[in-house]
Amino acid sequence: MAIVLSTSKNDMRLAANALREGLLVALPTETVYGLAADAGNRRAVAAIFAAKQRPEFDPLIVHVFSPRKARAVADFSDPRAELLAESCWPGPLTLVLPKRDWVPDLVTSGLDTVAVRCPAHDVTRKIIDLAGVAVAAPSANPFGRISPTTAEHVRLGLGDRIDYIVDGGACSLGVESTVVDLSADPPLVLRPGGLSVEELQELVPELQLLDRAGGEANPRAPGQLPNHYAPKKPLYLFPYGALPAESSGKPDREALPGVQDPGAPAGVLCFGAPRARELKAAGLYGPVLDLSPKQDPLEAAANLFSYMHRLEASPCDIILAEKLPDQGIGRAVNDRLFKASWKG
Ligand code: TXA
Ligand code: MG
Repeated sequence: MAIVLSTSKNDMRLAANALREGLLVALPTETVYGLAADAGNRRAVAAIFAAKQRPEFDPLIVHVFSPRKARAVADFSDPRAELLAESCWPGPLTLVLPKRDWVPDLVTSGLDTVAVRCPAHDVTRKIIDLAGVAVAAPSANPFGRISPTTAEHVRLGLGDRIDYIVDGGACSLGVESTVVDLSADPPLVLRPGGLSVEELQELVPELQLLDRAGGEANPRAPGQLPNHYAPKKPLYLFPYGALPAESSGKPDREALPGVQDPGAPAGVLCFGAPRARELKAAGLYGPVLDLSPKQDPLEAAANLFSYMHRLEASPCDIILAEKLPDQGIGRAVNDRLFKASWKG
């Protein structure tokens, strides 16, 4: 079983030494917990893939202490890389850039680009700095499952397969970083995330959002698989306001398009206190969890994965989720809900 560490100086030093020795350490970041190992140690990187049961065609993000250290991982000669790193790091932005030779193929799945990010979490930056290495870290969940936003989520998902978990409390953002591919022309947002596309376009106006229709098979976005972040129960996604809220008995098949078993007790994820009130009053559903009573997409992002974990553990058979408005960080929340949803 993994040893849970605190954020004391001693424990941070212990975590840093463990990374240097090639062990697996789950670290808190502002987005989600990452499962970290020394990026230059092939055995340790292979152990990440094994612990997560992640296919090796899905490349990892390399995390660094500072924007300056990122230069040792990737080629920053593109001035847009400089601009984004200077403006957005430390923070929830991952840049895909030409890789340096030392970065093992296993980290990049054989691509000649590498994903690099400087996380905005003091404890984790300190640990990376003490370790003196760049760390490869995917989200610390078994492959394809809900991402972890607390140390307890990590312990439940991977506790028996990794060495240490540093408990830094709940992640403040709650959805993963925005992945921007600057090696593409025009540059592409491969994954919406904690930094909104709108904000990034203010810095790099030519930035485009990857078209999801092409995304599933798009070789530029390895690992952008449609079935990801999935709870163990089928999750059905609805437009905002589309779930039946009339208390006229059980919602029927027609009222719930796409749902295989509309009679099953359903947990609900919704957005905003008025909507939550309506859905609870309807008496048609099991637990109704409101991602943000005050309709703040940032709060919804912070709650998303932990509410999915909660519904997974609650006595309901299916999960019905309503989307957020598709803008800003709401886009990242909708992306994760879509990837978690049942594709039949
Ligand atoms: O917020 C985050 O990004 C978290 C924390 C731990 O930093 N990490 C994370 O890692 O979400 P992961 O492995 O779950 O997602 C990494 C994404 C994947 O979709 C992967 O395909 C993409 O980044 N990626 C990594 N390297 C790439 C590359 N060279 N080209 C294109 N996409 C890449
Ligand atoms: Mg992940």
